Amino acid sequence: SQPIKTAFTITPKADRISAAEREELLKAPGFGRVFSEHMAVVTYTEGKGWHTPEILPRQPLQLDPAASVLHYAQEIFEGMKAYRSPTGEPLLFRPDANARRFRRSAERMAMAQVPEELFLDAVKQLVKIDADWIPAPEVGTLYIRPFMIATEVALGVKPSAEYKFIVIACAAGDYFSKDAGPVTVWVEENTVRASRGGTGEAKCGGNYAASLTAQQEAKENGCHQVLFLDASERKWIEEMGGMNIVAALDDGSLLTPPLKGTILHGITRDSLLTLARSQGLTVREEPYAIDQLYADIASGRLRELFACGTAAVVTPIGTLKTSKGEHVISKETGAVTASLRQALCDMQFGRTHDTQGWVHTV
Ligand code: PLP
Ligand code: COI
Repeated sequence: SQPIKTAFTITPKADRISAAEREELLKAPGFGRVFSEHMAVVTYTEGKGWHTPEILPRQPLQLDPAASVLHYAQEIFEGMKAYRSPTGEPLLFRPDANARRFRRSAERMAMAQVPEELFLDAVKQLVKIDADWIPAPEVGTLYIRPFMIATEVALGVKPSAEYKFIVIACAAGDYFSKDAGPVTVWVEENTVRASRGGTGEAKCGGNYAASLTAQQEAKENGCHQVLFLDASERKWIEEMGGMNIVAALDDGSLLTPPLKGTILHGITRDSLLTLARSQGLTVREEPYAIDQLYADIASGRLRELFACGTAAVVTPIGTLKTSKGEHVISKETGAVTASLRQALCDMQFGRTHDTQGWVHTV
């Protein structure tokens, strides 16, 4: 697709919510329920490329019931955040990495490619117009959800000739409730999330739809999240429903599954591993068998286990649960988990010097 040259047309919402009402909503926003007032929309038409970039008041979409996304799930998304700096300025964290991953997801799903500059421009324009929706740093962030849907009116199974690239945003507090402490994770033994050659590496909606029965089972068993195993041997840990997983071992090293096509290339994962390496920690990206992990919990070799992702940030895992019983790691947040979380958040919120070129102003 050709790069777009047009600037965004901006139509501000006429009846914007009052500052007092917004402040009320931003006190305890939870996750994914309190939306900002605008959205970015860009249209793709085969032969014409990307066109009509708009910032509009957030509103329902008009879709033909035969739009191909509704039938064959040609859909991808991203998750990223805007952070409020100590001087009140909106900051983005590695937005270029989200733009690149969005391109890779599009490629896997045979969708049009959104040029990186267009992706970044759409995100920045939305954050600018809705900057007031970024909660105070002690409350949270503005979670940004860029996504693309196939809109061609056609029931033939083929890549769509038309797409919409849309960006919406919502205020985000903690993904997991704070007082819960370390979370409990269900080790999924029935369904799998992704297999070799599948779509595990792409951030497409279908992966999440396929994870929901496991998530439901997890909830029924008193767990917050699911840990998936590999599809072929059901032996190796892969990732969770919406986050990557990392273990901290007694020799001071970190261990996490390698990126081999079935798990998402998490930007939080990459950032934490980079920070850990820069602090002199040994980081190993190696297959980790679930039975070995249980044995390491029992022997004390595994000291800490945590989930990491944009929504989850860095969340300690206290217990793994299966149909056969529980493996308790700790009821407290471990020191390595806490210090990595602190280092990452200090950078994201602009509280420490950005040594990596990761923090972007809007
Ligand atoms: N794995 C899955 C399945 C996810 O949905 C996410 C969240 O985006 C992650 C991992 C972590 O990725 P990131 O750190 O880029 O948010
Ligand atoms: C994210 O962390 O951005 C995710 O996509 C996880 C979940 C909210 C789907």
